[in-house]
Amino acid sequence: MFIMKIVGIVLLLAAAVCAKHEEYNGWTSYAVNPSTFEQLKVIGQLVDQYEVDVFSYPTVQREGLVLVRPEVNDSVVKALEENQISYSVHVSDIKAVLDQEDAVNARRKVEARGRSGGRSLPYDAYQEFPVIDDYLQDIARRYPNLVKLVTPANSFEGRPIRYLKISTTNFEDTRKPVIFLEGGIHAREWISPPTVTWAIHKLVENNTEPDLLRDFDWILLPVSNPDGYQFTHTNSRFWRKTRSTVGQNTARCPGVDGNRNYDFQWNTVGTSSNPCSDTYAGTAPFSEIETRVVRDIIHEYLPRMKLFLTMHSYGSMILYPWGHDGSLSSNAFALHTVGVAMAEDIDKVSLPNFPSYTVGNSVLVIGYAAAGAAEDYAHLAGVPLSYTYELPGLRSGLNGFNLDPIYIQQVAIETWAGIVAGARRIAQM
Ligand SMILES: *[C@@H]1O[C@H](CO)[C@@H](O)[C@H](O)[C@H]1NC(C)=O
Ligand SMILES: *[C@@H]1O[C@H](CO)[C@@H](O)[C@H](O)[C@H]1NC(C)=O
Ligand SMILES: [Zn+2]
Repeated sequence: MFIMKIVGIVLLLAAAVCAKHEEYNGWTSYAVNPSTFEQLKVIGQLVDQYEVDVFSYPTVQREGLVLVRPEVNDSVVKALEENQISYSVHVSDIKAVLDQEDAVNARRKVEARGRSGGRSLPYDAYQEFPVIDDYLQDIARRYPNLVKLVTPANSFEGRPIRYLKISTTNFEDTRKPVIFLEGGIHAREWISPPTVTWAIHKLVENNTEPDLLRDFDWILLPVSNPDGYQFTHTNSRFWRKTRSTVGQNTARCPGVDGNRNYDFQWNTVGTSSNPCSDTYAGTAPFSEIETRVVRDIIHEYLPRMKLFLTMHSYGSMILYPWGHDGSLSSNAFALHTVGVAMAEDIDKVSLPNFPSYTVGNSVLVIGYAAAGAAEDYAHLAGVPLSYTYELPGLRSGLNGFNLDPIYIQQVAIETWAGIVAGARRIAQM
């Protein structure tokens, strides 16, 4: 009886391992390369019409990567051909590639453990949620005069959503601008949280830019969507949304796209009212605790908050408002010049095989409008410099969906160069 039980458990475990990624059987990923803005807009229409899942937004003459479900495969291919949009099959057996990526990630994790040599967090293996959560608590304990840990709420499934406040003056010097970095709202974009934890490292553990501590107060939220983030590690690699089940958003199709859930032109464009969609806007603006936390931070520190960055991947882009119609805000000149300054400093320390950064209004760069995004909400609320970073990715070989972990530290370092440039521009304003 006892042995039977063990055998049963072992069989279950084995089944769970084999079943991983099976939901992506029959999916195909395509590299798409529009040569005109018209073609770019056609791709945007396909995204809405066929629920094409965009992994990396294309821009004019810069390739993007999209995932297509088997049911609409032929329709999407036909539309691409009819519009003479250049495309190629990127991966036809997605499960096999994800299995390979799992093996690489597991190996890197073991290697990183062997090498960690006193470093608190690995930057050559992906960081799972509990590891980041321990790190935030540990930093707050070790640097009590500089760092405060805040846990404003738990996620839908009960994980703590935490951020650090970093300040040499306990946030009491109200002349100091506040800078807010947020990561991990889109669960599958694994390169996002390490750029925020690296900023913590560079402010607290290895501060080589003392002016950034002296002149600014910082809010660092590495994982705003811990449920989704953990789910991509344990279940569905391409999960993007939260994991909530409320209202019409039933247990069959949980989750809301956090970057469509803000109260900015909510659910008007580039969103879906279907809970099963990856761009489901939710039952109402701020239906999600994960976005309410970000909203409340923004309002708590206005008007001192001068710079807000929300970290996404991938595409090497720095995007600014307005994202629902491509019109420009009255602060567009500053948004553009500071965006360019950040991109230039990133490109200076980037790798030759990474694309250089593109800077611009989000609709004008990716040809796709979407309502309810964090970057637009923060700007509307009064944050003068508000951006979405699309961090770098590589589509070749094993790096198709998941930047090889050997590049995590590089991305963290170069993104920090961008953050430093942005902060120093504020100091001059
Ligand atoms: C989707 O279309 C591509 C290109 O025509 C083809 O290679 C692939 O096998 C198709 N996949 C499915 C599931 O039909
Ligand atoms: C701190 O950062 C500098 C500059 O990147 C680097 O040279 C140095 O080795 C780092 N020190 C520690 C203790 O990590
Ligand atoms: Zn994203």
